[in-house]
Formats: sequence, C-alpha cells, structure tokens
Amino acid sequence: MKGVKLERIPILVLGGAGYIGSHMVKMLGRAGYRPVVIDDLSSGHADAVGDAELRIGSFGDEAFINEAIRTIMPAAVMHFASFIQVGESVRDPAKYYQNNFNATHTLLEAMRRHDVNKFIFSSTAAIFGNPITTPINESHPTQPINPYGRTKLFVEQMLKDYDTAYGLKSVCLRYFNAAGADPDGELGERHDPETHLIPLVLRAAAGRSSHITVFGTDYDTPDGTCIRDYVHVHDLCSAHLLALNQLLDGADSAWFNLGNGNGFSVREVIDTVEKITGREVPIEYGPRREGDPPALIADAAAARRQLNWTPSYPMLADIVRHAWAWESSNAIR
Ligand code: UFG
Repeated sequence: MKGVKLERIPILVLGGAGYIGSHMVKMLGRAGYRPVVIDDLSSGHADAVGDAELRIGSFGDEAFINEAIRTIMPAAVMHFASFIQVGESVRDPAKYYQNNFNATHTLLEAMRRHDVNKFIFSSTAAIFGNPITTPINESHPTQPINPYGRTKLFVEQMLKDYDTAYGLKSVCLRYFNAAGADPDGELGERHDPETHLIPLVLRAAAGRSSHITVFGTDYDTPDGTCIRDYVHVHDLCSAHLLALNQLLDGADSAWFNLGNGNGFSVREVIDTVEKITGREVPIEYGPRREGDPPALIADAAAARRQLNWTPSYPMLADIVRHAWAWESSNAIR
C-alpha cells in the first residue's frame, strides 16, 4: 500500500556477533526479518553484525535480559550464545553450567514473563555421546560424555518441560561439525583460541602456524583418524530459517540432527585442504584427544522431510573453499 511502511518482524539473536550467529543475522536480514543481536562480545565481534541492532550485555543478567525482551518484543528468540569447548567444560564445568544452562533458564523466564513463546536452540551432536549406531538419528540414545554435552541436553529437556507446562514452542537443532564461511566472503570463523580442525588446517596451509597436529591415528576407522560430518554454516542457518518460519506458522516443538550424512576423516580433510589451496600442509601426529568419539555422522532425514531442508553446500570441497577464502582475507585483518 502506498505510503505504508511495513514493520519488519523482530527476531532476537543471542550470540549474533559469533561465528554461526553472525551468518544467521545476515540471512534473517535478507529474508525480511529484523534481527536484533544480544552479545556480550566475550568471543563475538561487533563488526560481524552488519547493520543489525547490537545490544551488548549478558543474557544471564536478569535485569538486562528482561529489559531487552520487553523493549524488543521479538516474535522468536534464536540462541547461539554458548560456550563450546569440550575440553574446557571438563576442566571448568561451573562455567558451562552457569552460562549454557543457568543463563538459558534466566532467558526462558524473561521470555515467559513477556509472553515470547518461540525459541530456536543451537544444540549439538555431543548430546549423543559415543555413538551406538551410525548414522545418528533423533531416536539415538542421549548419553553425553562431557559437561558441554550435558548442559546442552539439559536445556533440551528443560525446553520439553516448558512446552508441556507453559506452551513455549522450541526447535532444537543438533549441529554435527559446523564449518565453512559466508559464500559472499563477508563473514567467517574467528574463534580465539581456535580449536576446530578446518580453520587450523587452513592456517597450517597458509604458513600462519607451523603444522597441524592430528589427534590420534589408531582409531577403528579406515585410515585410523577420526571421522566427522562437516556441515556448512550457511546450511545450518537455512535450517534455522525454515524452523523459524514453521514455528511462526504455529508448528509444534521439534528436534533435528543437522549434517550431510557423509563422514570425512581428519586425513581426508587435510587432503582436501591441500587440493583446494594447492599448498602442502605440515603434519605432526599426536595422541588421541580426550573425549573424541571415533566417528560422528548425522542422519538428517527428519530435517529434510519435516523442515524441507536441502543443504546448498554439502560437498566438503565447497566448505573448505569458502573457509579458505575467509582465512585468506582474514589474515590481513
Ligand atoms: N582434530 C585434530 N587436530 C586438531 C583439531 C581437531 O586432529 O588440531 C580432530 C579432532 O580430534 C576431531 C576432528 O579433528 O576428530 C574434529 O575436531 P573439531 O575440534 O573441529 O570438532 P569436534 O568434532 O571436536 O567438535 C564438534 C563441535 C563441538 C561438539 C563436538 C561433539 O565443534 O561443539 O563436535 O563431539 F561438542
């Protein structure tokens, strides 16, 4: 209608200055929503939110989050603001229970107070623990083997109870190995410290580190190194968008595993990096890293069926190509 400016629907993105969150903010904006970011910038980057509104603060701060929800009144909340290092969660579980669980409870209470009842939660393959069957579908037993995985599982369980009792509708998306970077080259992975395989291999290829250490060569896998299901950050975000649209259309709560269903060993990742970059990767072989299951591969049939999710970049080569483009430009930042 002439002269009428349509208000864009506000979506609150917790952790929107981080790796996956920042890609989501960009996608939400392009899809016509109004992403509003809350981030304490403990690991995120203010320049990653583009022109979205950024409110700096902690979602575990009751007064802050209540005021934010009251003034933003989001149609839904997306939660990317978790600590993610498995090893650290073993050494300092209090940090993980406080941020990943307690703060999420504070957030849900603020949502409840203001009748915000749609929630999308970044969960993880770590809720399953050591796989009993492969690939892993949604009915696989959940037996996390570290505090990180437990905090994520406890939030999933809290969400079920909040749905039953208070009608809060949620979608839990269990990422397998998030990787890659914005296909436009504007965003990428900037963790400090970086612990993830693909960026570390790329840094070794670029000469920004001396080598990559392969954690364990005696696993019961074809080449003895661990196998993971790498899924492009863009595709994770597209699953969030589909879940959001369904929730806003009145869909019920749901849980989905997100991966491509293809496993690649650490060795194969290094080989792919060498092919894409045209550089040799210096390798050292080290002992196993504690808590690493030999193979984690997703069965994402439910997401494909119920969310109509079709990954745009299922090939490892594309994931590595985009990550390499980002690493190469990020080196001069
Ligand atoms: N790896 C190496 N050398 C490194 C880093 C990693 O060999 O320097 C290996 C790991 O041992 C593992 C694979 O590369 O076999 C992938 O490791 P990442 O650290 O990139 O990812 P993870 O599989 O450990 O972690 C992912 C998610 C976590 C989640 C976990 C579930 O990032 O959030 O899966 O097990 F908890």
